Amino acid sequence: MTPATDPTLERAIGALAVPGVLIGHRLIAPDDALALRPDEQDAFANSIDKVKRASGAARIVARSLMAQLGQPEQSIPKSASGAPVWPAGYVGSLAHDARVAVAALARRGEFLSLGIDVEPAEPLDADLLDLVATPSERTEIAGNLLQGRLLFTIKEAVYKAAHPLDGVFLEHHDVEVDLAAGTARVRTGRTVRFRHGAGSHLVVLAFI
Ligand SMILES: CC(C)(COP(=O)(O)OP(=O)(O)OC[C@H]1O[C@@H](n2cnc3c(N)ncnc32)[C@H](O)[C@@H]1OP(=O)(O)O)[C@@H](O)C(=O)NCCC(=O)NCCS
Repeated sequence: MTPATDPTLERAIGALAVPGVLIGHRLIAPDDALALRPDEQDAFANSIDKVKRASGAARIVARSLMAQLGQPEQSIPKSASGAPVWPAGYVGSLAHDARVAVAALARRGEFLSLGIDVEPAEPLDADLLDLVATPSERTEIAGNLLQGRLLFTIKEAVYKAAHPLDGVFLEHHDVEVDLAAGTARVRTGRTVRFRHGAGSHLVVLAFI
C-alpha cells in the first residue's frame, strides 16, 4: 500500500514549528477528488481531475487539522479571488504540487492570516531568477539557484497570507525577502514573518 505521507517532508514541516499553527501534509491519492464536498465543488467545475485531486487532498489535510483542534470538520470553499474561505474562528492556507498537498491552520485571534507553499526542492530555472529575485536578494543568494527556488516559495506563501487581508495583487519584486531575519517586506508596507524547511520539498509558512 502507498504510504500517505513523505517522511522527508514531515521533517521539513517539523522545522517550521510556529506555536499555535498546525501543519500537515498528504501524498495525493487517486480518489482524493472525492473529498471535495458539494459546497466546495462549484469552484472546481471546470478543473481537470489532477487539480480536483490536489485540492481534495489539501482539504483532507485541513479537515484533519480541524479535528486535532477538537472542532467539527467543515467545508473550505473558495472566494472569487481563489483564496480559501475558512470557517469562523479559523485562519489557514493550502498548497499542493503534483505529488503532495499541505495545509496550515490556526485559531483566528492568535493569527490574522497564514500562507503556506510547497515546491519540489529543485533549483530555480536560471532564466527565472531575475523575475523572482530583486537585486539585493540576488546578491544575498550569490547565484545559488536552490536559494532562488526558496525565494520563489517564500513569496508565494507571503502572497497567500497578505492578499486576503490587503486585496493587492503582488509581483515577485513587490516582496523583498530577508532570509536571515525570516521576514518579508511587502510593497503595501506590511512585514510578514516566515519560516522554512527543506526535504523532498521546500515548504514555507508565512504568518501575520
Ligand atoms: C495564489 C497563488 C500564489 C497560488 O499558487 P499556485 O502555485 O497556483 O498553487 P499552490 O498549490 O501553491 O496554492 C494553491 C492554493 O492557493 C490558495 N489560494 C489561491 N488564491 C489565493 C489567494 N488570493 N490568497 C490566498 N490563498 C490563495 C488556494 O487555497 C489554492 O488551493 P485550492 O485551489 O485547492 O483552494 C497563485 O495562484 C497566484 O494567484 N499568484 C499570483 C500572485 C503571485 O504569485 N505573485 C508573485 C509572488 S508575490
